[in-house]
Amino acid sequence: MKIDNLIDALTTQGYYVWDNFLSASEVAHIKEAIPEDQLKDARIGHRHTLQGNREIRGDLTLWLEPTMGEPIANYFEKMEDIRQSLNRELYLGLRDFEIHFCRYPSGAYYKRHNDNARNQNRRKITTVLYLNESWQPGDGGELLIYSREKLDSDEVILTLPPKAGQMILFLSEDFPHEVLPTKEMRESITGWYLTEPFL
Ligand code: OGA
Ligand code: MN
Repeated sequence: MKIDNLIDALTTQGYYVWDNFLSASEVAHIKEAIPEDQLKDARIGHRHTLQGNREIRGDLTLWLEPTMGEPIANYFEKMEDIRQSLNRELYLGLRDFEIHFCRYPSGAYYKRHNDNARNQNRRKITTVLYLNESWQPGDGGELLIYSREKLDSDEVILTLPPKAGQMILFLSEDFPHEVLPTKEMRESITGWYLTEPFL
């Protein structure tokens, strides 16, 4: 079972790439359900301590809610099942889940960063589901994951193309990562399992 592979991989290497997490039609339905007119410039930091910085990231984001339609509600449900499995097997104490839709226009990137804002550690596991049905080698926009073995290591341990239906999950506090400049519009749903209820 994929969920067992996920649990093994998180305990050993700290990340897991889940191929075909969603089917092509599930991805298409999610994309249709996104209320695109509500997309906003992404900002660095938690949504309560916003500071704009276009030199670090150039994507547009939209926080998602299950009320946005059935495909999105189904996605929340899948992520809730995984949350319960992770708590049962790994005692992570994950209390909640926040997710946003991200769109990188052509030319956008997200420089190397960690996912917890300064002095915070409520984000335990990062999840990124990719929505790009026609991604081709050469389109850019790959996710780079850096080694957690050494602070400030510049060793890249994974280069992941943002292909539709594929998901990566990783320990948020362990892995610096970045998004390479994309040549095509690049879309994803990025989420975090949290140790506190989302306020
Ligand atoms: C993020 C992030 C990675 C990706 O939104 O914090 O690192 O591949 N996203 O989109
Ligand atoms: Mn990130």
